[in-house]
Amino acid sequence: MVSHRPRVLSGIQPTSGSFHLGNYLGAVRQWVSLQDSHDAFYMVVDLHAITVEQEPATLRENTRTSVAQLLGVGLDPERCTLFVQSHVAEHAQLAWVMNCITGFGEASRMTQFKDKSAKQGADRTTVGLFTYPVLQVADILLYQADQVPVGEDQRQHVELTRDLAERFNHRYGQTFTVPNPYILKETAKIFDLQDPTAKMSKSASSPKGIVNLLDEAKVSAKKFKSAVTDTGTVVSFDEKEKPGVSNLLSIYSAISGRTVAELVEHFDGKMYGALKTELAEFFTEWVAPIQERTRTYLDDPAQLDAILAQGAEKARAVAEQTLTTTYDRIGFLPAKR
Ligand code: TRP
Repeated sequence: MVSHRPRVLSGIQPTSGSFHLGNYLGAVRQWVSLQDSHDAFYMVVDLHAITVEQEPATLRENTRTSVAQLLGVGLDPERCTLFVQSHVAEHAQLAWVMNCITGFGEASRMTQFKDKSAKQGADRTTVGLFTYPVLQVADILLYQADQVPVGEDQRQHVELTRDLAERFNHRYGQTFTVPNPYILKETAKIFDLQDPTAKMSKSASSPKGIVNLLDEAKVSAKKFKSAVTDTGTVVSFDEKEKPGVSNLLSIYSAISGRTVAELVEHFDGKMYGALKTELAEFFTEWVAPIQERTRTYLDDPAQLDAILAQGAEKARAVAEQTLTTTYDRIGFLPAKR
């Protein structure tokens, strides 16, 4: 089928056992809604994951769990192309080509690399982490993506993609679509429950502040109930003075579809405890079907494998074409078999 819908491509790392609410509300939820308006390619980026050390059994398990959760929240293999990055060899192959047209200084200016490597120290920072953005460039260009749905923190990597696509096209002739960032308007800014001034992120200091999609009901309830709030009592939205309460309202609003104003009115005359208890209950009910669907995919590895085989096949069909053209443009001698 020839598709005239714009193509989107995005990826998520399989670096934890469960996605958290920040992942879901910040990105994955939008992936689900883009399936119908766009020709969507989504992948679990295991090649990116090994830029930091991974325990092999854990990586394998987290990759499966990531795929199962993506299906669980509503990605539909009939409406999008869902695959695992390492199943399509062309990613690593095109990344090498892209490495060879990237300036060392240019790569050195990537702020995410600078932040991560500063935290880890030079000796624990791998060359893979340094070229991480270039692999991401290859991911995007292989599929001739028109748009790349990512959070604001990935904008610089999409800019690099544009620069390298234009550079290659200029040097070797039109080969790659120059993609646009599709910066996801955060449906809700979600903060850490223990430190409501910091983004909910897996690098947070304590797991207590992070609500995971796969948390058991009693675990997530406890996290909501022990969320840090101020000493006041009136439930109102004020990110400066009441970041904790505001965060709980944002989360409740995002998953329920009710506006913050509506919720504030609903809690009129009630105290913080009521908000926490009700949100904990709502979350549990909201997440239950997601967990159930995720579980069915995890319980049937053969089905999951079949979905991934089909996804990889669809992805490869596109990736192979792009790589063949690229190799030819560069002047590599075609391999005859
Ligand atoms: N770097 C992205 C992130 O951490 C993940 C990613 C890898 C990605 N390859 C991609 C996102 C290609 C969009 C397109 O969020």
